[in-house]
Amino acid sequence: MTNDPTAKTLAELGVADASGVVRLFTDVRNRFTSELEAKQSANDWEELRGAWVGRKSGMLTRITDNWLKPAKPELKRTVGQALNELKAHVEAALESRRATIEAAVDIAALAREREDLSLPGVVRPLGSRHPLRQTLDEIEGIFLSLGYSVVAGPEMETPYYNFEALNIPEHHPARDNMDTFYMATPPGSAPLLLRTHTSPMQVRTMEKHQPPVRIIVPGKVYRRDNPDATHGFMFHQIEGLAVDTDITFCDFKGTVEYFVREFLGPNVKTRLRPSYFPFTEPSVEVDATCVFCGGRGCNVCKQSGWIELFGAGMVDPAVYGFVKYDAKKLSGFAFGLGVERLTQLKYNINDLQLYFQNDVRFLRQFS
Ligand code: DAH
Repeated sequence: MTNDPTAKTLAELGVADASGVVRLFTDVRNRFTSELEAKQSANDWEELRGAWVGRKSGMLTRITDNWLKPAKPELKRTVGQALNELKAHVEAALESRRATIEAAVDIAALAREREDLSLPGVVRPLGSRHPLRQTLDEIEGIFLSLGYSVVAGPEMETPYYNFEALNIPEHHPARDNMDTFYMATPPGSAPLLLRTHTSPMQVRTMEKHQPPVRIIVPGKVYRRDNPDATHGFMFHQIEGLAVDTDITFCDFKGTVEYFVREFLGPNVKTRLRPSYFPFTEPSVEVDATCVFCGGRGCNVCKQSGWIELFGAGMVDPAVYGFVKYDAKKLSGFAFGLGVERLTQLKYNINDLQLYFQNDVRFLRQFS
């Protein structure tokens, strides 16, 4: 502190009487007031306190050492009193400033931490179930209500389950339109393929379980097709199989009609058209009245009023032979639903690739 009067004694300062002492203390007090005025922050407070009441070299200590102690006896009382007043004043002012600073800190923290209940909440975008998942769930629901169980099977299959045991021997022409992905397997080991349909689970299920059997098998299937609006190298099927001691073609027809009405609506009619699958006899294509024109004829149904839904039929006795079922005592039916196709018909989707592109503009329409 330049020109610090407390560095000198009263005698050195030329203060010889009480009024000189009072003036001196008034100066010091004014100095304190202006410093207190200039220094407002919490850090400043620490500094001020050190400078004024710090034990070792604070202003009050220096006044005690340099003014009070060496003061002439007749001035001691006055100096002592003035010093006590100054001390009380400085301490009270510092204490009140400390309270002010702490209150300000509290208020700032409160303001920072207060929850603004009027703020709008964060709207998190909700996903939706994929349209194929919705169809799978819906179809599973329909068959569960009829007493069917849902089972799953391997996507990697052996040619035996995918073909042979379904009455599709090697070189059978039915293998041609199911262009197959074969896995690279070590030489000498059994060949593996990606299943081309969910039908292998018919065989796997009948191998393990005695009739009555009532299952559906949803899952992915794979074919060597180039992707376009109606083809993909992967798509979904739901296989169905019911076998018991006296299942008739009427049961089959009734089940199919019930399913189509549940899935496409009560006014849709079905018809069965003769067809061929190696593992069913007789085999049919199940058609429905066109969902787009109600059967009057339009572009989608090529003016016929009918659209093809899926393949089905009565289980060929040859298949029972592979699973050691007694074909004389048992009968049943099977069907193979194309999930992409049924979804396309239900929601009028014209491009198969839309399912797999994950474009939210497409997916959002199904939430
Ligand atoms: N597995 C056949 C396919 O993928 C579909 C099929 C047709 C399955 C008739 C069946 C059936 O169970 O009875 O082309």
